[in-house]
Amino acid sequence: MAFLNDNYLKLRAGYLFPEIARRVTAFCEADPAAAKRVIRCGIGDVTEPLPAAAREAMHRAIDELGARATFRGYGPEQGYAFLREAIAANDYAGLKVSADEIFISDGSKCDCGNILDILGSGNRIAMVDPVYPVYVDTNVMAGHTGAADESGAYEGLIYLPCREENGFVPEIPREKADIIYLCFPNNPTGAVASLEQLRAWVEYAVRHEALLLYDAAYEAYISEPGVPHSIYEIPGARECAIEFRSFSKSGGFTGVRCAFTVLPKSVMARTRSGEARSLHPLWQRRSSTKFNGVSYPVQRGAEALYSAEGKEQVAGLVAHYMGNAAILREAVAASGLRVYGGVNAPYIWVRAPEGASSWEIFDRLLQEANIVITPGSGFGASGEGYFRISAFNSRVNAEEAAHRIRALSW
Ligand code: MLT
Repeated sequence: MAFLNDNYLKLRAGYLFPEIARRVTAFCEADPAAAKRVIRCGIGDVTEPLPAAAREAMHRAIDELGARATFRGYGPEQGYAFLREAIAANDYAGLKVSADEIFISDGSKCDCGNILDILGSGNRIAMVDPVYPVYVDTNVMAGHTGAADESGAYEGLIYLPCREENGFVPEIPREKADIIYLCFPNNPTGAVASLEQLRAWVEYAVRHEALLLYDAAYEAYISEPGVPHSIYEIPGARECAIEFRSFSKSGGFTGVRCAFTVLPKSVMARTRSGEARSLHPLWQRRSSTKFNGVSYPVQRGAEALYSAEGKEQVAGLVAHYMGNAAILREAVAASGLRVYGGVNAPYIWVRAPEGASSWEIFDRLLQEANIVITPGSGFGASGEGYFRISAFNSRVNAEEAAHRIRALSW
């Protein structure tokens, strides 16, 4: 019999979102009438149609593949130059990120997990808490942790608590970490970090020769001026940070699949024998060995998001979801609960009524209001006592959810 990867057995229960889906399915099967009323504000999945610019570009690309003269087979593993150049010119103008430091992929979730392939074992890994579960679970799978305790915290990880007191932006740890996961705008809390706060992280990373894994999947939702959109706005970040971005939430690509990772050639890590080496060629080597790239029509669709019409349509989508966020935020505040996020991010983070656990609120909202939310504890121990409402929905559903929330008495 073959040996399995024992690390998987350390993972607690199911992955958060399938677990929510399981509970919702059980509820709907038990009460088919209520099932028809269910509004899903759990997983952050887009609901609005794809931007026309992306659809038209994908249609054209399909037609190209249908003609011998313009047919294409395997594409470059790192992504087509046309898309990497569009990203460099639009998202990183003035930030010295070159097109060959950009790697196109099928998702930030995959990239955040896959990046561990090029990093060694024995690193001290720090995570914000609450946190997008993928960062933690992929480290557990890779054998970088011990077992989980009662609260779900894994032995060996450094947790950086994000609470109301610190505005959900973690303090710099006193101890030395080798790898730090940061996510701004944050999933799940919706918090953003200021330039000064990010500067402190970059200084820390440079001082300790640490690596920042910076997830900016929700960058398109930043609405306030002065909030950094990229870690590369901070001097020194090109020496210590890898940035993940996605078209999932900006262009509505959760089903289409396209994202990218920026890995500057100047980001170094050490070999076992102590030699500093650039990570860029390792990631390139990984991509060419384990990946055949994102499909040509999809990359053309993503490129079209940077056209004038594409930008306008993306802004329209973002405005739609942020309109929902405002409606939901107001309803939650009116119901007497403390509410965070929803200003620079499509997630609203809510303090549960005193004494109620996150899963208790999940069950209550499902049963009494037929609304699906995400329990904060699913994002880590510091998320206990909170819940997350996703603003990804139709306007009709957001308004109906807001109406039902206002009618609740906590
Ligand atoms: C979420 O709900 O946190 C997101 O949909 C997760 C993801 O993007 O993978």
